[in-house]
Amino acid sequence: PYTIAEPCVDVLDKACIEECPVDCIYEGGRMLYIHPDECVDCGACEPVCPVEAIFYEDDVPDQWNAYVSANVDFFVDLGSPGGAAKLGKVDYDPPFIKALPPMGE
Ligand code: F3S
Ligand code: F3S
Repeated sequence: PYTIAEPCVDVLDKACIEECPVDCIYEGGRMLYIHPDECVDCGACEPVCPVEAIFYEDDVPDQWNAYVSANVDFFVDLGSPGGAAKLGKVDYDPPFIKALPPMGE
């Protein structure tokens, strides 16, 4: 699947949401997360993110490897909702993301 990394934190531009044909990009507290099982690897979201936060999981830069797990962990309690629009914003982030200092411009 594709995955969202640190540049999204506190930016949450959401341009990616419009591009996803299966609505698998979910809003957390400080960033958005791609559902690893619902993503169909179409790649449509990756080029539209203005801060280049989206990567195919194998291409995530090393310093952001923890975000691959974060995009999995975000859904441990949620399961597979089958669509972000109906779920809405979830006020949760994995602990290491919640603990980050304020990010973005
Ligand atoms: Fe985040 Fe970029 Fe989407 S900033 S919300 S991954 S367009
Ligand atoms: Fe969605 Fe395709 Fe990205 S399925 S999360 S737009 S790779």
